[in-house]
Amino acid sequence: MDCKDIDDSDEIKLAFKYYKRNSPPPSFEDVLDFANVISPDLKVTKLQNSCHDVGIVGHPNLNPYELWDIYSINDIKGLYFLSNLFSKADQTYWCNRCLETYSRSPHRTNLDLHFPKDKADSSWAISKQNLTSTCWNGENNGKNMLKSTPIWNLRWATLGFHHNWDTRKYNKENKSVFPEDLAQMCSCIVDSLGFKKFRPEAAIINFYHSKSTLAPHKDDSEADLDRPLLSISFGMPAIFLIGGADKNVKPTAVKLRSGDALIMSGQSRLAYHGLPLVLPHPESSKISLPNSDPLATYLQHSRININVRQVESDSKSLKN
Ligand code: OGA
Ligand code: MN
Repeated sequence: MDCKDIDDSDEIKLAFKYYKRNSPPPSFEDVLDFANVISPDLKVTKLQNSCHDVGIVGHPNLNPYELWDIYSINDIKGLYFLSNLFSKADQTYWCNRCLETYSRSPHRTNLDLHFPKDKADSSWAISKQNLTSTCWNGENNGKNMLKSTPIWNLRWATLGFHHNWDTRKYNKENKSVFPEDLAQMCSCIVDSLGFKKFRPEAAIINFYHSKSTLAPHKDDSEADLDRPLLSISFGMPAIFLIGGADKNVKPTAVKLRSGDALIMSGQSRLAYHGLPLVLPHPESSKISLPNSDPLATYLQHSRININVRQVESDSKSLKN
């Protein structure tokens, strides 16, 4: 991640501050919302699903590909937006995997920096217990209860080649297994767009709450920058900003909802991007109390982003 030397005059920084601000609240008039795209639209193009042509076989925890909606954004070369990839049950499956398995050994999380590994590894198990055994009432609402559990402090997990947050480098010595189910699901999505076979080798899972943001940056630490980047969102909706290779390209704001995915390839692979705002769920989808499903409580107040990369190029493997 490259967060350095972004000053207030950068277009992406200005837009980031605009959407992040509390008062006056930002207008969402210019946000690209694929749920409300009326075709034909000048900004986006709906693509024909080419999965049949490229021989994609599907995945047990993905919708059948006939249901997927795939768009490109006309001004941002190489950026694809995909929705309707996951049923509600698929979303539950992947979110459970993120909290239950991908946030424990041998994967790494920010909690490992503060707690012994066995304690860090039991964060979700303990939180689930807390959330199911506490009595629900007006004051003991889901958010307050969640805030008192260990999982509230989870910010990131790294899988496969572990992203080093200081050096931004990957290293062969700093690597653990990449989960097979996640690799297959990600390959299925990326390969569907007809890219050369994608190898998911590193993932950052970001865990956000309502006030969390991700500063503008570009991801350029991977060996082969022709390989796309896949970003999948679950839980609370959010505003995502994507500009260009230069910080002064005025960014486009895109609304991301649970189950949406972005593929950054071509020019957009090296575009500055960031996440200035996590949005509340619409009133219509709010869970009414009491609710004793810990995952539902978590997702009501959190956003999960699975960000997947191929690290090594086909010709070069990483040195130690
Ligand atoms: C990242 C990233 C975007 C998001 O992890 O590098 O850009 O939607 N995440 O959370
Ligand atoms: Mn990124």
